[in-house]
Amino acid sequence: MADVAPYSYPHRHLLGIEGLAPGEISALLDLSESYVEQSRRDDKKVAVLKGRTVINVFFETSTRTRTSFELAGKRLGADVINISPDISAIKKGETLLDTALTLNAMRPDLLVVRHPQSGAVHLLSEKVDGAVINAGDGWHEHPTQALLDALTIRRRLGGLTGLTVAICGDIMHSRVARSNIHLFNVMGIRVRVVAPPTLLPPEMDRFGVEVFHDMRAGLDGVDIVMMLRLQTERMQGSFVPSVREYFHFFGLDARKLAAARPDALVMHPGPMNRGVEIDSDVADDIHRSLIQEQVEMGVAVRMACLDLLTRKLQSNRAEAA
Ligand code: NCD
Repeated sequence: MADVAPYSYPHRHLLGIEGLAPGEISALLDLSESYVEQSRRDDKKVAVLKGRTVINVFFETSTRTRTSFELAGKRLGADVINISPDISAIKKGETLLDTALTLNAMRPDLLVVRHPQSGAVHLLSEKVDGAVINAGDGWHEHPTQALLDALTIRRRLGGLTGLTVAICGDIMHSRVARSNIHLFNVMGIRVRVVAPPTLLPPEMDRFGVEVFHDMRAGLDGVDIVMMLRLQTERMQGSFVPSVREYFHFFGLDARKLAAARPDALVMHPGPMNRGVEIDSDVADDIHRSLIQEQVEMGVAVRMACLDLLTRKLQSNRAEAA
């Protein structure tokens, strides 16, 4: 395993990308590399987290994020428990903090938390003794998604600095967009956002990105096109006139992609809505689409995060003893 000292990541939790230093992001990505190799072996298990308990607490549905955190924990030898919204006591009216205290009493080392409200994971992290990883809170942040996106880009293109990425679609409701914007800004990637004005947050000018309302202009010469799902579950009312019209103007197809660099790559965090924000021809193009690679990198990045936070926890406990 790569030798990464706990001080290369000095935080107890991973709640967001905002506030992380470039060296801390690089340490997580470097450690992830070794877990990519390990996950490609027949025997994918190591005993790094043997005896540790990881609880995945998902107050919102998820397929890839929850599965990949579960696999990550199991590949590191931890005991992994999953709590999903339908079986949780939340349904019976328990508050978030009571749930946090209940779980804390079972002495988990790591809690991986997804919650529909921005800030909820931060609140929970203040009430528990273990380390907390934010697996997506409302519109706010989804740090492991940004890390896996960065790892995917870095492996394919050899680096991050100097690239131009266009993030397109429902920026307003997207924690993926926010985490990626923070990461790209700090790692020297130029960021463009391309969206109709109705799908941009009012505070967009504070993000240090270039804003476009036209796909061809926004994609002109970019290295990477990152598409986002229309997050209708977070919308109150209608943000686009019709899905057909949305696809016409903002859906990524081969014609719009032609404005980007000839070798430009396509990304999507999933779940994809084909024919809404992305055309199948582009999504399934094995030369241009990184979508499956993103999923693979997700497991490696989550292994690195679980590993590094556990080491940090251990060194904190040793100091306190
Ligand atoms: C994203 C999420 O949940 O924020 N999905 C994911 O984690 N891969 C994006 C989305 O739901 O559209």
